[in-house]
Amino acid sequence: MGKHKRIGILTSGGDCAGLNPVIRAVVRRAVGTYGWEVLGIRQATLGLMANPASVLPLDKKVVNSWLTVGGTLLGTTNTGNPFAFPMPDGTIRDRSEEIIQGYHHLELDAIIGIGGDGSLAILRKLAQQGNWNLVGIPKTIDNDVGVTERSIGFDTAVNIATEALDRLHFTAASHSRVMILEVMGRDAGHIAISAGIAGGADMILIPEIPFSIDKICEKLKGRQRRGRNYTLIITAEAARPLEGEAVMSTDSSGQTRLGGIGQSLADEISSRNIAETRVTVLGHVQRGGIPSPLDRLIASAFGVAAVDLIAEGKYDHIVTWQKRQVVSVPIPEAIAQYGSLELDGTLIRTARGLGIYLGDS
Ligand code: F6P
Repeated sequence: MGKHKRIGILTSGGDCAGLNPVIRAVVRRAVGTYGWEVLGIRQATLGLMANPASVLPLDKKVVNSWLTVGGTLLGTTNTGNPFAFPMPDGTIRDRSEEIIQGYHHLELDAIIGIGGDGSLAILRKLAQQGNWNLVGIPKTIDNDVGVTERSIGFDTAVNIATEALDRLHFTAASHSRVMILEVMGRDAGHIAISAGIAGGADMILIPEIPFSIDKICEKLKGRQRRGRNYTLIITAEAARPLEGEAVMSTDSSGQTRLGGIGQSLADEISSRNIAETRVTVLGHVQRGGIPSPLDRLIASAFGVAAVDLIAEGKYDHIVTWQKRQVVSVPIPEAIAQYGSLELDGTLIRTARGLGIYLGDS
């Protein structure tokens, strides 16, 4: 059985559905199989920065009902890089040492970090600097962690976006409109292409293939000539025109965010008098809700495998999903590969094969 261990677990970066099922699986494996102790760290690294550290002791009873709960019951943050931490007085400080000490004060033997590529890179830097034993679990609705075929949260987001398209078909048809659905995904088009195919979109716009607005308008006119009275377009938030940039906005705190390409497309289509056009921006709805069965399944497999890596002493690794198996990969390798859609991959070929227009040809 090996030596008794105390392990920490934290969720970092944007939340998504499936985080609580991973925590539940980690606790069931660590406590149930190995007899270890698990401390849930609140608000990502902020919980370690707090003095004393902000933790929730986790046992099987605490996490019993967490399988179907969305979000993260430990809380998270996607701002406040510890190496350049924004202070209330407007200055920027390196607070990494405070976080590192939080791990040591808790006398942790290892820590499981659940995050996307950005969070995993930060956690690894902390682990290297602070001599932590780190194991990573990939989560992000964007599915852009290159080494894993699936990350937690992606399937639920695709289900939500697909359902939105299913609903838009009827209202689009009733009013003979062009309906544009803008989905998240950061710099990758995974959500857009998957939901677009599954939800029967007529056009899918993704960051990997810059689009021509003139050609989109020609296609719309062609569809009208052929008697198609409505068109459904799904666009990834970072899709961009051939001669242009992704649409971003900056909030009052100076943070920039993707978003707005749907409306800018709609304005262009309307200004050319092609069709009445409406836009739905799905936004954070994609991150909420009950985790899908597939997300629960992957979360459970990842949670068990992550604890097993700690039992083996195999640190600085991340669990990934490859060909229906959980495979562990060194974290540096995992964060080095950004997971864009492959231009000659199955999904793009499938979309083209179905006659779905991708904005380019
Ligand atoms: O990375 C996940 C994600 O939901 C992206 O798809 C999106 O661009 C971003 O986070 C939104 O971040 P925030 O929650 O800060 O608005």
